[in-house]
Amino acid sequence: MELVQEINKRVEAIEAIIRTYLPKEEGYQKTVIEAMNYSILAGGKRLRPMLMQETYRLFGGKSRVIEPFMAAIEMIHTYSLVHDDLPAMDNDEYRRGRKTTHVVYGEAMGILAGDGLLNFAFETAMKAFDLEPENVNIPKALKILAKKAGIHGMIGGQTVDVEYAGKPLNKERLDFIYRLKTSALLEASMLIGAVLAGATRNEQRLVEQAAADLGLAFQIQDDILDVTGTQETLGKPIGSDEKNQKTTYVTLMGIDRARADVAELSQRAVKCLEGLVVKNEFLVQLMLYLIQREK
Ligand code: IPE
Ligand code: IPE
Ligand code: MG
Ligand code: MG
Ligand code: MG
Repeated sequence: MELVQEINKRVEAIEAIIRTYLPKEEGYQKTVIEAMNYSILAGGKRLRPMLMQETYRLFGGKSRVIEPFMAAIEMIHTYSLVHDDLPAMDNDEYRRGRKTTHVVYGEAMGILAGDGLLNFAFETAMKAFDLEPENVNIPKALKILAKKAGIHGMIGGQTVDVEYAGKPLNKERLDFIYRLKTSALLEASMLIGAVLAGATRNEQRLVEQAAADLGLAFQIQDDILDVTGTQETLGKPIGSDEKNQKTTYVTLMGIDRARADVAELSQRAVKCLEGLVVKNEFLVQLMLYLIQREK
């Protein structure tokens, strides 16, 4: 399939960019840096940097200023996974086809590696200033990155997710959790791409809306795969949600409705982007491809 080849080509290019920004494994603090690189180099779909780059291209962005932000969003996402897998959170032992960071390096180092990735993400993103000191959009992009990763974004969602494990949860609160724990980083990805390429306020609004719906669809599919997938394909254990007594889209709405909503939300996200004058056919195909993803 041609699209899969296109995606793989981009993943390779993204990984080359990420590598150039990774910290050197040296100094007395070498262990934490090794643990950081172990988690980020394990692979993964690299969806967030891909969405960022394609949204940047959508609005005509051509410079390398996007690259430190692409590395940064993958660092923040990877940190969120390292912490999500900790014994105090989802307590999972596999991620991206490898033993989780805390299993290999110990819990303290798992916590520190996550912290390290989060902080290094901002050190990395700020290298955009060295590339284009005059670019007035860089501070705006940094502001988005900070907010969407924090208590009004991913961390906020993870908080409610953890608090409501084992407790009844209605759809409204579940949607809140998903919009924050998962959509927020997709919103950051696409919005940063748009902002750095100089998109207008109205264009930014449409992009953020599309990313919010895409994120919701993405998390619902993640819930489905936690039930129907295999560890071999996913690279992480199945049944994690049941083990942690999580209310998910599948337990609350049933699997058929969950599947239908993944398709509907993804299509709505694409429609939202189709309202723009500018076009990026690969981005549209990528968003629709995610409906049937198996990992
Ligand atoms: C996993 O994200 C966590 C969720 C938000 C569902 P991904 O499915 O993008 O994980 P990787 O990056 O491919 O490992
Ligand atoms: C986690 O949701 C989303 C994050 C912000 C890390 P999950 O707990 O369902 O993600 P997986 O299934 O472990 O990847
Ligand atoms: Mg979790
Ligand atoms: Mg988890
Ligand atoms: Mg999951």
